[in-house]
Amino acid sequence: MQSITVIGAGQMGAGIAQVSAHAGMKVLLADRTVEIAENAKTGIAKQLNRLVEKEKISSSDANAALDKIIPISNYDSIGDCDMIIEAATEREEIKRVIFEDVGKKMHDNAILASNTSSIPITRLAQSSPDASRFIGVHFFNPVPIMGLIEIIRGLATSDDTVARVTAYGEALGKQLVFSQDAPGFIVNRILMPMLNEACFALGEGVASIRDIDTAVQLGLNHPMGPLTLADFVGLDTCLEITNVLFTTTGDPKFRPAPILQKYVEAGWYGRKSGRGFYDYSGDTPVPTR
Ligand code: 3HC
Repeated sequence: MQSITVIGAGQMGAGIAQVSAHAGMKVLLADRTVEIAENAKTGIAKQLNRLVEKEKISSSDANAALDKIIPISNYDSIGDCDMIIEAATEREEIKRVIFEDVGKKMHDNAILASNTSSIPITRLAQSSPDASRFIGVHFFNPVPIMGLIEIIRGLATSDDTVARVTAYGEALGKQLVFSQDAPGFIVNRILMPMLNEACFALGEGVASIRDIDTAVQLGLNHPMGPLTLADFVGLDTCLEITNVLFTTTGDPKFRPAPILQKYVEAGWYGRKSGRGFYDYSGDTPVPTR
């Protein structure tokens, strides 16, 4: 891949843009306004500078990567890109509009990929110009740190599309795993029930927020406890994914915990909104119950 477009300049989109530019690709970074995309580029510059300070990359490499990222707010210039990766909000109607708009501007051989965490790829492909060039490319947060990409082929995805996306993932230095287009793919099928179960345990008064997190972090040697991780992923995103698992399988084991639904109804989305299971207004997160 020589050049890609990343749509959505949030946490995931910015991370994907950063690692792709660092691997030498030209990256058009798109969002609703060019200011949003430019702000994301400023954030990427800070991340790259931290890597320079830690002597993990040279300052000339950091500058070269940054120069490759071009903020945009419409799709007029994406015609030369080999791949378009959508990393917008995890809502099907938003993604579908993007695929329809992008489909009118991408070139005939370009791949359209979605970073969706759980929406079926075969279904999303219906809004793309060619389902054989549509694929799931699922990154993990924080993208520059996490070593994995899940590749999900829809029913109509071609072998050529899988091969080109595999080459892209390898160029980023990530470990690749291949999943069928099944609910939650591999990671979220296993992760979300664990986070949801931690919410049930909290709601039933089994233990405090801090003790649930300490128990799992130290008892299972996880980098962070499940309620901290749910806040990190975003409680709204956790609920969206859990609802997809529940509705697409019909299996009651995936029903969302009432406390997770309540927190999302309250707008307590976790770290990004300043409050979830923890309050993030101070220097260190404080459990809210
Ligand atoms: N961006 C870039 N780098 C980051 C970062 C970020 N947001 N957050 C932390 N880092 C870097 C730090 O700079 C540090 O780098 P160094 O080792 O070179 O100094 C390194 O990561 C470790 O960071 P810290 O020492 O500050 O803190 P921790 O040791 O606690 O690590 C963590 C932070 C990497 C986030 C770690 O807690 C972790 O791995 N947590 C689990 C993350 C996880 O499970 N992600 C997957 C979520 S699920 C998902 O994304 C799928 C979706 O579909 C829901």
